[in-house]
Amino acid sequence: MKTRGFILMFAVLCLSNVRAQTPGPVNYDEQKVPQYRLPDVLTCADGTPVTSRRQWEHRRRGEVLQLLAEQEYGITPRGRVRMDCRVLRENPQALGGLATSQQVMLTFTGQGRSVQALLLAYYPNRREGRVPVFIGYNFKGNHSLTDDEEILYSPYFERLPNREDPELRRNNQSSRWPLAMILRRGYAVVTMCYQDIFPDRPDGDKESVTQLFPPSADNDSRWQALGAWAWGYSRMADWVVRQPWANRRQLIVMGHSRQGKAALWAGAQDKRFQVVISNNSGCGGAALSKREFGERVYEITKSFPHWFCPAFTRYAGNEGSLPFDQHFLLALVAPRHLYVASAEKDRWADPKGEYLSAYHASRVFSLYGLQGLASPAMPPLNQPVATQVGYHIRSGGHDVTGYDWNCYMDFCDNAFGRE
Ligand code: GCU
Repeated sequence: MKTRGFILMFAVLCLSNVRAQTPGPVNYDEQKVPQYRLPDVLTCADGTPVTSRRQWEHRRRGEVLQLLAEQEYGITPRGRVRMDCRVLRENPQALGGLATSQQVMLTFTGQGRSVQALLLAYYPNRREGRVPVFIGYNFKGNHSLTDDEEILYSPYFERLPNREDPELRRNNQSSRWPLAMILRRGYAVVTMCYQDIFPDRPDGDKESVTQLFPPSADNDSRWQALGAWAWGYSRMADWVVRQPWANRRQLIVMGHSRQGKAALWAGAQDKRFQVVISNNSGCGGAALSKREFGERVYEITKSFPHWFCPAFTRYAGNEGSLPFDQHFLLALVAPRHLYVASAEKDRWADPKGEYLSAYHASRVFSLYGLQGLASPAMPPLNQPVATQVGYHIRSGGHDVTGYDWNCYMDFCDNAFGRE
């Protein structure tokens, strides 16, 4: 009886240790970053050190993937849903003749329901052989990328009562999508609006692709928006690999901010993505949570209860008890190519935490004899470092700019051996 009581008390103590707590104000002072200890990505759950690729691939990688699925992003269901693709429009002279554009309605069906997402592709007309493809979501609908009236509203925006809101106007995201510049360098772009896959609001799941699958067996590890967006990246890849102009060995997944978090999770799970790019992904993306700098687990899970799986909220105000950190996520990209980008004024996303996480993930790249980030010190502003792992911090704020795109294309040219 006594032992039982003791075990019970111990269990209660352990549980209270991982219960959400309200932390103090957001910290932007490097001096106030707490002392933290990062869990070792190269030590198995039972304490066995990982010293070979074989051990990493056959044992530890699976453990890390499972940990992140169960505790952070939710478990992606294994089942498949039906995906029908219908070309709605094709323009062989898009962007002044530089590219061909295609608009394809994807209809996903499962559990007697269906969800539609409108994919938009541009591929270069001048090309020799198959081309590398950037796969990325947009925030405000396909029509927000361009002033081209041919480009249709994404289904999510079609449903909105007030499409005249200035925020939702055509072309208003074009600075983030320098299409002509990308196409001129020989890359294709494939995008769709992330809201089509999972509307970005707390009750968004009702209209999302999660409804096409049987309900999750374990509520704590239930997938939500980030899991669904990651799943959607892979569906774009499913379409891309069937296109005669696309090089299926040169798929790049790229995402900004919340979409960068999802891009990393997609890249971790789907090895078809040869290059994985996080643009200003911050908390729950590239940045280390245990630094508690800028946005923390508390803020993110409170403002966006629909992004992570319910289990993740336990670490709010309790980052010290996290059995992993975001370098685990980045390490899952090895031995493929990884690029993390920060912006100087984007302190909410903790640029230093983003860099350090890529630095600590580099140990897994070393297992393959590949060079990652060699120094724990960040490079100066606007001076990218690039090996198998790339990083830059540019001047300016939270955004995607032409500078970022040029760095990504330089990195990919190098990764794919292009001139
Ligand atoms: C908010 C959120 C971030 C997210 C960002 C974005 O700022 O707190 O976590 O990255 O939105 O997606 O733009």
